[in-house]
Amino acid sequence: TFVVTDACIQCKYTDCVDVCPVDCFMEGPNFLVIDPSGCIDCAVCVPECPVEAIYAEEDLPPGQEHFLGLNAEIAAAGQWPVINQRKDPLPEHARFKDQKDKLYLLDR
Ligand code: SF4
Ligand code: F3S
Repeated sequence: TFVVTDACIQCKYTDCVDVCPVDCFMEGPNFLVIDPSGCIDCAVCVPECPVEAIYAEEDLPPGQEHFLGLNAEIAAAGQWPVINQRKDPLPEHARFKDQKDKLYLLDR
């Protein structure tokens, strides 16, 4: 499966959702997750993200491994709706896009 990682938090550009052929992105207040039960590993979402937040699970950068479980857990909980149409990024995206370790900001 593919995984949304830290860079997405508090930015949520949503370019990724427009291209997913199986609509497996789910939207929270300031982050998206990929539902691993839906993802077909096509990889077309990866180059769409302007902050390179999406990785194949086997290519997760050091320190981002925990996002695999986090995406799966949030998707399985079923509280976040599917998103398949791009929308405006979050208002403070420019301020947050280069910040690291934003998990403490995650709103669920
Ligand atoms: Fe959707 Fe393909 Fe990205 Fe999986 S890899 S989330 S199927 S676009
Ligand atoms: Fe997030 Fe990148 Fe998609 S910032 S919403 S993973 S385009």
